[in-house]
Amino acid sequence: MTETYATEREDGRHGAESTIRVWDPLVRMFHWGLVAAFAAAYLSAEELSTVHEVAGYIVAGLVAFRLIWGFAGSRYARFAQFMKGPSATVRYLGDMVSGRERRYLGHNPAGAAMIVALLITLSGTAFTGWLMEDETRMTMLPDFPQIVAPAWADDDGDERAEHGEGGESALGEVHETLANLMLLLIAVHVGGVVLASFRHRENLARAMVTGTKRAPEPGDVA
Ligand code: HEM
Ligand code: HEM
Repeated sequence: MTETYATEREDGRHGAESTIRVWDPLVRMFHWGLVAAFAAAYLSAEELSTVHEVAGYIVAGLVAFRLIWGFAGSRYARFAQFMKGPSATVRYLGDMVSGRERRYLGHNPAGAAMIVALLITLSGTAFTGWLMEDETRMTMLPDFPQIVAPAWADDDGDERAEHGEGGESALGEVHETLANLMLLLIAVHVGGVVLASFRHRENLARAMVTGTKRAPEPGDVA
């Protein structure tokens, strides 16, 4: 993995500026593949088409890959490199508010917390979608109906029979709520990316395409 640390000199007009490879190709393919698959799943949701299910399974596959890559990937892909405890995350958020947060070459602590939230919510969305596809799958989770029971606690049996799919629609509500929670998380995620890009004068979205970032300067966390 030596190339991960290799810096390349570029001839810039304002003197030589060096860049460093941060995101490996699989992290980048994972990211933009996830953006495309999530968008396809979300936009095809109303029709309940095969497209929706296939896109949802691609999301699940990408998340599974990322979990493995978080242990086996290159330096900045590893969870151990960027996962921080709650106190470090809160401290970083405090620094953001006062405008003196440090530049991280990898994910900053707030970004890392968002990644965990995105991966968990995506897993929950895909999992509830998979459960809904075949009602017998619910039997693998004997406690689940009790968790969602308050949603139809006032229903009597007849009402549920009228609606036909009481349990399934409660699960559908959970599925849809998780999908909509994703929209909120994505808005905050992209907002964080834009904010950090301005603060540190570098285009982070572009870095997720090229894989390279400005080499660390004094005070940066590499
Ligand atoms: C067009 C909109 C988006 C842009 C510009 C964008 C940009 C980025 C950037 C720049 C990073 C690296 C952050 C850093 O420097 O620490 C990142 C990471 C990440 N983003 Fe996005 N993102 C977008 C949409 C999404 C969406 C829709 C999802 C989820 C469905 C998502 C999930 C993630 C995840 C999981 C990571 C962690 C990457 C890794 O380490 O594997 N992003 N994103
Ligand atoms: C992780 C990506 C996924 C996203 C973002 C997503 C999003 C959504 C949304 C927003 C709805 C509500 C549609 C509406 O009624 O307006 C929905 C419904 C549904 N989705 Fe997904 N979904 C995903 C994965 C899956 C998977 C993997 C499956 C199954 C293989 C699935 C099966 C279904 C079914 C059966 C419904 C209808 C639920 C009902 O209305 O009771 N979804 N999905």
